Amino acid sequence: MRIVRQVEELRALLTEPRRAGRRIGLVPTMGAYHDGHLSLMRQARRDCDVVIASLFVNPAQFNDLSDLEAYPRDEGRDRALAAEAGVEVLFVPPVQSVYPPGFATTASVAGLTDRLEGASRGRGHFDGVTTVVTKLLNMVAPDAAYFGQKDAQQVLVIKRLVLDLDLPVQIEVCPTVREPDGLAMSSRNSRLSADERERARSLSQALQAAADAVSDGERDALAICTRCRAQMVQDGVEPEYFELVSPQTLDPVQEVEGPVLAVVAARVGETRLIDNQMLTTAIGRREAKGRETWSYT
Ligand code: PAJ
Repeated sequence: MRIVRQVEELRALLTEPRRAGRRIGLVPTMGAYHDGHLSLMRQARRDCDVVIASLFVNPAQFNDLSDLEAYPRDEGRDRALAAEAGVEVLFVPPVQSVYPPGFATTASVAGLTDRLEGASRGRGHFDGVTTVVTKLLNMVAPDAAYFGQKDAQQVLVIKRLVLDLDLPVQIEVCPTVREPDGLAMSSRNSRLSADERERARSLSQALQAAADAVSDGERDALAICTRCRAQMVQDGVEPEYFELVSPQTLDPVQEVEGPVLAVVAARVGETRLIDNQMLTTAIGRREAKGRETWSYT
């Protein structure tokens, strides 16, 4: 696996495979790899001839400086894991080459970014994401780029960005990878103390409770959300939001008719966690600790 830090070198490296018509896949990441990241890389490996992962802790998308500083970094470990997952080029640009002095442009998606994570973390968060993703797509010019359903709102925002700006890339969405007890994998999980790790299960359990309620015939979104929020509080986790929303627009739904996205965010100790799960009236009750069997793109 090659480590590339300069965009000129990256472009030179990709000239030949591009000319030969090879399919180029990009997996944008901020590092601290876990099986969620690796699943995207492996999917890209299956679909593409050349797999690039970018490793860039993007300061522009952190609303909180202490969160940026505390973000786990271990390039050596990430290198080994990416190579093992079939990545051929790890692109690790320095901050000053992504945001050189005088940098003044923002790619911003309206509407979808106002709610949920946008409301909690501030508008700047998604502006930071869409700006850096636009830049990474322009630097690599991949045929396909891979994102995780774990960040459901990010997926919708990026799909909107790509559509609106006619970016010539196919967006592929991979299912959320979970720990055996249901906790969605996240680079932030490593910051949880033993007690917090125990309580962190509450997010996926509340999502599962919502799925079970729908399977049992409950259709009233407010009733489901109220019950799930109360369950989290009982688990010692105060939800920042727990909502049932449209999987297309993220607008809150009143009734569960057809597919609905359940979304949750909560701080467990100092660590902010998010998760989501599609709820649908079309499938039966899942196993108590069931994993996602259904995803949408
Ligand atoms: P990061 O948090 O490093 O995540 C990189 C990719 O891995 C994202 O597409 C994310 O949705 C996916 N991912 C994270 N946890 C996952 C899990 N448990 N299962 C499946 N996929 C998972 O998301 C970002 O970085 C940044 O915002 C980025 C898109 C790189 C822009 O800076």
